[in-house]
Amino acid sequence: MVRELKYGMVGGDLKALIGECHRKALGLDPRAKLVCGCFSAVDELNDECAEAYHVDKARVYYDAEKMAEAEAGKIDFVSICTPNFVHYSVAKTFLEHGINVVCEKPLTLKVEEAEELSRLAKEKNLVFAVDYCYSGYVMCKVMKQMIARGDIGEIISVNADYMEGCFLELLSEKEQVNSRIWRTDPKYSGISNTCADDGTHVEHLVHYVTGLKIKRLLATADTFGKKLDLNDNIILEYENGAHGAYWFSQVACGSPNEINLRIYGTKGSLEWHQTRPDEVRFARAGEAAQLLCRAGDGIDVPAGSLARVPFGHPEGYYIAIANIYRNVIDTILKLKNGETPTEEDLDFPDVETGVSGVKFYYAVMESAQNNSKWVDVE
Ligand SMILES: NC(=O)c1ccc[n+]([C@@H]2O[C@H](COP(=O)([O-])OP(=O)(O)OC[C@H]3O[C@@H](n4cnc5c(N)ncnc54)[C@H](O)[C@@H]3O)[C@@H](O)[C@H]2O)c1
Repeated sequence: MVRELKYGMVGGDLKALIGECHRKALGLDPRAKLVCGCFSAVDELNDECAEAYHVDKARVYYDAEKMAEAEAGKIDFVSICTPNFVHYSVAKTFLEHGINVVCEKPLTLKVEEAEELSRLAKEKNLVFAVDYCYSGYVMCKVMKQMIARGDIGEIISVNADYMEGCFLELLSEKEQVNSRIWRTDPKYSGISNTCADDGTHVEHLVHYVTGLKIKRLLATADTFGKKLDLNDNIILEYENGAHGAYWFSQVACGSPNEINLRIYGTKGSLEWHQTRPDEVRFARAGEAAQLLCRAGDGIDVPAGSLARVPFGHPEGYYIAIANIYRNVIDTILKLKNGETPTEEDLDFPDVETGVSGVKFYYAVMESAQNNSKWVDVE
């Protein structure tokens, strides 16, 4: 019986942002061991990582394709933590070598690329997860189950935003944004910056929690004279006829990766904020609102039992990512041991989620560039 998985990483050098979060999240799971990587496109940075991450130097590669070739049959999955423009080619090569993939978002720069990855993963019968990590928060899972049970009735309105101020400096004359500038360069980020980067998190999270599907949308995208969007406002119509409003901004001074989700139904409402991820405000029509707290009283849906630390001790971002990985690992282990993964095991954002994200930011950009016309979303 297989009990431990070996994984490799592409991207995630010592200075990178998200690779470290993946390694820390995976470090919370004794069933996964980092054994190889192509941590950077820069050779010296790669070499430093071997020592820092306790990876055998012989298994540190200067090219992701060579890594896939050499590690086929030796690793159980790869975590791709590179900038957006690298996701497609790297994911494709690992799939072609029969290796399960966990990839960062947005999945690709083009819809056709995302669809090709989806086709390939299915054809090869491989697990493919996309790190839309906010759905890993226990209280998002609690909201999802409460909504599915009918606690707030039929959803009639959604209001969601993702605000940060990380690119405000781009608007100043000095433009001193010095690190990881790839995000605002179309060569590396494709047709969208803020919507692809942050907006797709919201698109996924709302769908995950509510089950609503977007029918059409209209949008504005502010570039402030720069190459890509930095501030987007969107009105959406869902397939059930309800409307929603999303706002994504990377020039919102003073806002620290705030994601705010407000969902209104015919019988009540739910409200969640990523800066206080262990709490959900729940209101039933005609009653005073109550604060539900992770691992606290009054949560009677199964997701309530997923908390890892007791009431009052914060969990947070690393554990949200670890929760995604826990299910990915459960799924891969079961498949390797000839068992069938359960619905709970399969509760992670999959390659189709990645495809939806890419279609979403294409629709937003199409509307914004065409006088905010309504655009159907597939
Ligand atoms: N899920 C989330 O909450 C979240 C948060 C931040 C970033 N991200 C996503 O993670 C990805 C990486 O973002 P980041 O902020 O860590 O970027 P970063 O610039 O900090 O790190 C990118 C890493 O990729 C490496 N790299 C670049 N090209 C490579 C190549 N060809 N082969 C191997 N390594 C290569 C760099 O050396 C670096 O280690 C992006 O797609 C971003 O959208 C997701």
